[in-house]
Amino acid sequence: MTQHDRLLIVDFGSQVTQLIARRLRELNVYCEIHPYQNVTDAFLQDFAPRAIVFSGGPDSVTRDGSPRPPKSVYDMGVPILGICYGQQVMMQDLGGRVEAGHGTAEFGRAWVTPAENRLDLLSGWFLDGTGREQVWMSHGDHVSAIAPGFEVYGTSPGAPFAITADVSRRFYAVQFHPEVHHTPNGRTLYENFVREAGFQGDWTMDAYREEAVQRIRDQIGDKKVICALSGGVDSSVAAALIHEAVGDQLTCVFVDHGLLRLNEAEEVVGMFRDHMNLHVIHAQEQELFLGELEGVSDPETKRKIIGRLFIEVFQKYADGIEGAEFLAQGTLYPDVIESVSFSGGPSVTIKSHHNVGGLPEKMGLKLVEPLRELFKDEVRALGRELGLPDSFIGRHPFPGPGLAIRCPGEITREKLEILRKADAVFIDQIRRHGLYDDIWQAFVAILPVRTVGVMGDGRTYDFACALRAVTSVDGMTADYYPFSHDFLGETATRIINEVKGINRCTYDITSKPPGTIEWE
Ligand code: XMP
Repeated sequence: MTQHDRLLIVDFGSQVTQLIARRLRELNVYCEIHPYQNVTDAFLQDFAPRAIVFSGGPDSVTRDGSPRPPKSVYDMGVPILGICYGQQVMMQDLGGRVEAGHGTAEFGRAWVTPAENRLDLLSGWFLDGTGREQVWMSHGDHVSAIAPGFEVYGTSPGAPFAITADVSRRFYAVQFHPEVHHTPNGRTLYENFVREAGFQGDWTMDAYREEAVQRIRDQIGDKKVICALSGGVDSSVAAALIHEAVGDQLTCVFVDHGLLRLNEAEEVVGMFRDHMNLHVIHAQEQELFLGELEGVSDPETKRKIIGRLFIEVFQKYADGIEGAEFLAQGTLYPDVIESVSFSGGPSVTIKSHHNVGGLPEKMGLKLVEPLRELFKDEVRALGRELGLPDSFIGRHPFPGPGLAIRCPGEITREKLEILRKADAVFIDQIRRHGLYDDIWQAFVAILPVRTVGVMGDGRTYDFACALRAVTSVDGMTADYYPFSHDFLGETATRIINEVKGINRCTYDITSKPPGTIEWE
């Protein structure tokens, strides 16, 4: 557990709770999100936060049994910031009044103007000459009477109690969401709040790296640890960090299922083995995977076959590493939150995910998850600290089942060969035009249709392909990337000229939802 001062975010179920944590981490403050049900008296004692934030949430405090923190939270003597539903909880718990909707709901942009009283929490606000600040509101209920001890420091047309505080107890409560982009000065508010709470801003990657290394050493001792290295950012950073902590006690297994991109295996193995001196086993299992996938065209069946074989193969190689007691995984903080969150994960399986879940118990291994406290961009920052090249850190995500899910219909070696070449040209185009970092993910899918074309004087009858490029924040939703027509035309010409076997290119302009990012 971290030795830094800690801030507790009590989650009441807002869609944007993670953003609160992001804003705070950007201020070098260590914070954790915990669903309100887990925040008991004992938990609060144990966690000993230096400050607390109550998130927003979808419920109504006017409803019996609506989510609440334990009453003891108000007696801890630490600053509390309540946001939206969090404000309403505070008001009602402390003797104010909240009323349900009825025409006072506000969703979207609003402007807050300051009251006569000044508040340190708002220093840096209301300075641009307009005398007001843009904020983002999203509430049905509203506070109709503030709790004793509180005063009003800002109002908006729909929220006369937009900013309230009990300065003597350091309780702050706002109706709007300072964590979202649409509250442009929200960061200043959080900055003032954590300064008021006495945080030192010492949660830096440099410090984290040292602590994490020590924790890994304490956990692993002189035992051995294995790691499934995929070449993705998470497993790469986890491996590099564990290697720094325990050196050759770590063995990585890179499973080559024959569904990788052009030169990918050589690049990943070369970089970790030769450049970073890690012990890497290159499991060459192309025949096994491609053999079992022969004739299979159903997407879920493909995924299941690959997932099963991956575990079998990994287990086979791991069994050969004598004395391994630990399995390293690149689990990130959003996965941890998702698994404990009261809203839970998606209820419908859209695609079965390929991972090594269930493996540790089956093999009797203990888990090492050194990235459990980090967000993706923090993992990238740590990777840079550890000396991983930018070309690795900034890589687009690549799915575990690899090219199998970019090859709708039956997978053949011929199609994979063509797909690899086309994909490489597309990515090269994107890099040449300086667009790689603006795009979340870009790839080619080879379509299970042949089309007629004419090249030179001859007729062709070759595969068609689809280019896919999307912007996204977390892969949950996505928009297609708005390439210029010139870019698309140039790319199609290059692919058709340079890749034998493709004579037609389309650009996929489907968003997610209703589409998914991958084709299968
Ligand atoms: P979809 O296609 O569901 O993809 O919109 C969302 C993101 O997840 C990646 N993806 C996977 N990643 N194992 C992974 O590690 C998988 O089985 C898998 N399937 C999809 C996809 O590339 C995108 O970034």
